[in-house]
Amino acid sequence: MLTTVLMVAAGSGSRLQAGVPKAMVTLSDGHTMLEHCLDSVVAARDAGAVELNAIAVVVPGDPDYAASLEAICQDFAARAGVTVQTVPGGTERADSVRAGLSAVRELAGSAGGPFGRHALLVHDAARPFVPPTVFSAVVTALETGTAAVVPAVEVVDTIKTVGGEASDEVTGTLQRTQLRAVQTPQGFDLTSLEAAHRLVEEGAGGAAALTDDAMAMEAAGHRVVVVAGDPLGFKITTQLDLTLANALLASGTS
Ligand code: CTP
Ligand code: MG
Repeated sequence: MLTTVLMVAAGSGSRLQAGVPKAMVTLSDGHTMLEHCLDSVVAARDAGAVELNAIAVVVPGDPDYAASLEAICQDFAARAGVTVQTVPGGTERADSVRAGLSAVRELAGSAGGPFGRHALLVHDAARPFVPPTVFSAVVTALETGTAAVVPAVEVVDTIKTVGGEASDEVTGTLQRTQLRAVQTPQGFDLTSLEAAHRLVEEGAGGAAALTDDAMAMEAAGHRVVVVAGDPLGFKITTQLDLTLANALLASGTS
């Protein structure tokens, strides 16, 4: 089904401490994180996993950063033969997704596909190596009529809850077999995700409480389906992740 990708790249990368937003960080092969992420979308298109309509990239509000990322996007668009549109983001990730949704609605246009359904993939511009198989698994699940799909991998650590007055006190241990670490791209029926984000916006929780988009769908009462993610779908958050990314590039693994 016809699919628009919403790539969020408006974060500051405070945990990576690279001095620039994560999407602008250059990996050891000389390409920025944003280029790698755009490349993986087009690789999925070329592998037949995604019927790609267009890509909306949400960029930081700072005009210098926005201009640099816009230049990367337009250069990529010309090379890959795909429409890429940038839009300024917001304070929290969910604010950036909401800002991007209006651009996606325009890009989707009246080409809603059969029964007006248009697939949306929300993707972090901080996951440079997502293989086409993950895109394919997400889109295939959407094609069965599911409104929300997340790729996920098993959790290797034991996860405990902490709380009480001192946050160093354990309050419980979650059953590891029931836990999954969720990645992106997350797939949605566009109209359903727009409605779910509106509901969250009107509610008390606020954008800060949303750490992914499936949470908005869960809050709206949608069934969210899990498909196989991939270890290469890891997110670059800290310097250690960046070291791993560069080692993967050097070894030819990615
Ligand atoms: N993001 C965004 N707008 C925000 C916050 C995050 O578009 N206001 C995007 C980031 O650019 C990233 C993705 O959401 O691609 C996942 O967020 P995260 O890994 O937390 O990135 P940052 O927020 O940039 O990093 P940090 O939390 O360390 O500051
Ligand atoms: Mg963040």
